[in-house]
Amino acid sequence: MRVYLDNAATTPLDPRVLKKMLPYFTEKFGNPASIHALGQEAFIALEEAREKVANILKAPKDSLVFTSGATESNNFIIRGLALANKNEKRKRIIISAIEHPCVREAARRLMVAGYTIDYVPANKEGIVTAKALENLIGDDVLLVSVMMVNNEIGTIQDIKKLATIAHRFGAYFHSDAVQAVPYLNIDIKALKVDFLSLSAHKFYGPKGVGLAYINPDIKMQALIVGGGQENNLRSGTHNLPGIIGLSEALYLAYRERDEYLKRISKLQKYFWEKLKQEIPEVLINGSWEKRVPANLNVRFRYIEGEAILMDLSQKGICVSTGSACSASDLRASYVLKEIGLDKNYLNSNIRFSFGRFTTKAELDYTIKALKQTVKRLRAFSPIN
Ligand SMILES: Cc1ncc(COP(=O)(O)O)c(C=O)c1O
Repeated sequence: MRVYLDNAATTPLDPRVLKKMLPYFTEKFGNPASIHALGQEAFIALEEAREKVANILKAPKDSLVFTSGATESNNFIIRGLALANKNEKRKRIIISAIEHPCVREAARRLMVAGYTIDYVPANKEGIVTAKALENLIGDDVLLVSVMMVNNEIGTIQDIKKLATIAHRFGAYFHSDAVQAVPYLNIDIKALKVDFLSLSAHKFYGPKGVGLAYINPDIKMQALIVGGGQENNLRSGTHNLPGIIGLSEALYLAYRERDEYLKRISKLQKYFWEKLKQEIPEVLINGSWEKRVPANLNVRFRYIEGEAILMDLSQKGICVSTGSACSASDLRASYVLKEIGLDKNYLNSNIRFSFGRFTTKAELDYTIKALKQTVKRLRAFSPIN
């Protein structure tokens, strides 16, 4: 049996999405920038895809910039804003201490442009509180960036509340919402964010395509310059099949959301209860209540997560110890360190991330395999 419980790393392309994309590789291959009929056909498809996304996110059409993924969106938003404002007074950027590395690195590299980067902490539940942000913010802050859902522990932040605080101090607010689709309602107007990032491959769309919402009233500097596509904000020939795929994947995710949420919440609860029942000394990382139903991040006392991962992999089960981008990096997770985990447990975590195709039978198989794996590894653990 092959079991895929790493949907936070990436998801398979939905065959319905692929079907929508295929004509744009072959007969409808035109460049949306071309004036002839084939180009215009592509242009119309591009703008229809943008409209579809705008309707779901309740955002103006001209505020959406298609990118190559959330790494690019996050880099563009943070660096593009800071570089456009480098001669202004506000010289501080606040990001949460549990942001994805592409937010951390994009911000950190602005220090050479004269910016100071401050980190708003998360509490032991994995939540960034209003109080924590209020303690740090001031009139010298240009941007606050807090992710909607954490990629390692799945915790949910109160974005509207945090954005309101940022605005009270005249700062802009960005949220990396990559892990939030379709678990949270991403209504841009209601959330009061100025910037937001998404990535299609996290919601059964293709890899290599993403989205940046940019409040059109805010001064930005493009990072990728050239032919002036996307309102001069992101040059380069459009990845039209990818953009069609993103819009269809987002549409399906929200159309089928209610049913899906019911099903996945049930699976998550079932798995956690069963895990506690079958395996001693397993603890959850981060809040149980304020967590998306796709995520369960736990630690198994006395053993290394990496050893569990390898053993499960041999049994056909794909899980992760943290985020995919640091899968080859055996250093302890900074997210778990941030939420105050004892150093003995920083390397003993496993992230199970469920998805659209996860079944109860797969979870039963995983529990059975885990029981054997954990028992075997604990038998020769030096810290047991
Ligand atoms: C929270 C978060 N932000 C950003 C990214 C990067 O997205 P992409 O793979 O589209 O570059 C990821 C992907 O792992 C993520 O989980």
